[in-house]
Amino acid sequence: MAKQYDVAVIGAGAAGMMCAAVAAQRGKRVVLIDHAAKLAEKIRISGGGRCNFTNINAGPANFLSENPHFCKSALSRYTPQDFLALVKKHRIGYHEKHRGQLFCDDSAEQVIQMLKTECADGNVTWRMPCSVASVENTSEGFLLETDTGDILADSVVIATGGLSIPKIGATDFGYRIAAQYGLKMVEPRPGLVPLTFDGPSWEAFAPLSGIALEVEVETGSGKERGAKRGFFREDLLFTHRGLSGPAILQISSYWQPGTPIVLNLLPDIDVAQTLIEGKGTIKKQLGNVLSQWLPARLAEGLLVANGFAPDARLADMADAKLRKLGDAINRWAIVPTGSEGYRKAEVTLGGIDTRELSQQSMMATKVPGLYFIGEAVDVTGWLGGYNFQWAWASGVAAGQAI
Ligand code: FDA
Repeated sequence: MAKQYDVAVIGAGAAGMMCAAVAAQRGKRVVLIDHAAKLAEKIRISGGGRCNFTNINAGPANFLSENPHFCKSALSRYTPQDFLALVKKHRIGYHEKHRGQLFCDDSAEQVIQMLKTECADGNVTWRMPCSVASVENTSEGFLLETDTGDILADSVVIATGGLSIPKIGATDFGYRIAAQYGLKMVEPRPGLVPLTFDGPSWEAFAPLSGIALEVEVETGSGKERGAKRGFFREDLLFTHRGLSGPAILQISSYWQPGTPIVLNLLPDIDVAQTLIEGKGTIKKQLGNVLSQWLPARLAEGLLVANGFAPDARLADMADAKLRKLGDAINRWAIVPTGSEGYRKAEVTLGGIDTRELSQQSMMATKVPGLYFIGEAVDVTGWLGGYNFQWAWASGVAAGQAI
């Protein structure tokens, strides 16, 4: 005999736990299903173990989607202040780190415990670990065949996230359910991910692993099909395989393969103008001049990559060559070979096309009773607490509507 529930939520991550708690506290009989043995691993490893659980400045402009207006409704009905009120209610210490990013003082585990407690307050039934083999419509509702027995539910919420970090249980389950019901998808791809570079033009930079500096980075003229313009001022990190750090993770979500990213390594200095003006008075070698502003190894790498001898004297350089060097530092355009992929990506861009969903309830308009929330949906936030805010807000929207 199948067990009967009002709501079956598949995926007990950030969005799924929030949705289950909200629906259950409204009196719904909710079963929360996850195939993992360990609960909410992504919350546990998030924010370096302290979970950057929201961003107090989060708004629709901080999200990417083919349908940018979709997220407005849910985000405006459940705000960062609402989540913060929950955090305070559970007496979890927190602090602001950088540009509105809020972290737990102690551990991400506290956020998991908070959501578990909220689920317990609504008497949510847990099925974990439990694999769902199929979801079918019957005259009595949705029938879920699982390896721990069948479940019948009036509504099903898909909260199985995206494809990032497969080793902790990410699957394409949500996308398969969307395909089964004929719902359109926006092609998924890794987001918030380090970019890789190789080939001769990268050789001079390969040894710079570990160097970090604040830069401006941009990509996307808007002319390429599907390209969106991204611009950030954040830290850049040279790695063994290419570039990482917040600047690169942010821009990676806007980057289209085959196109360049443009870095300004010294955003507060017009390098060409400063060098040309200094020619008469500065007696130093070019490498020494640049290393006043840039890490010495990077200054040397830039000179070598652009055909300058590091020991060349500034005073001897033609203005045209200094302009070329200024461009290489203030407008360094490089085409990444690729990215580190889902193995390292913090999020998955794309997903269930939001034009298939109600922005009020997150229900598929063609399939009454079937909901999609969280990262499975084509709404992806910037780095900095935005993705959890979407998970909470979309989870609450569905939890209140079911
Ligand atoms: P989430 O991935 O949290 O949960 C999905 C659940 O579904 C999982 O429990 C999984 O086991 C389950 N599942 C998958 N397939 C299933 C199946 N077939 N059957 C049953 N269950 C299944 N964001 C942020 O805002 N601040 C931060 O600090 C960070 N930090 C961070 C660090 C790292 C290393 C990563 C990889 C990601 C982040 N993120 C983040 C992003 C954030 O973790 C992510 O956007 C949310 O967890 C998405 O919430 P969801 O509930 O949609 O998916």
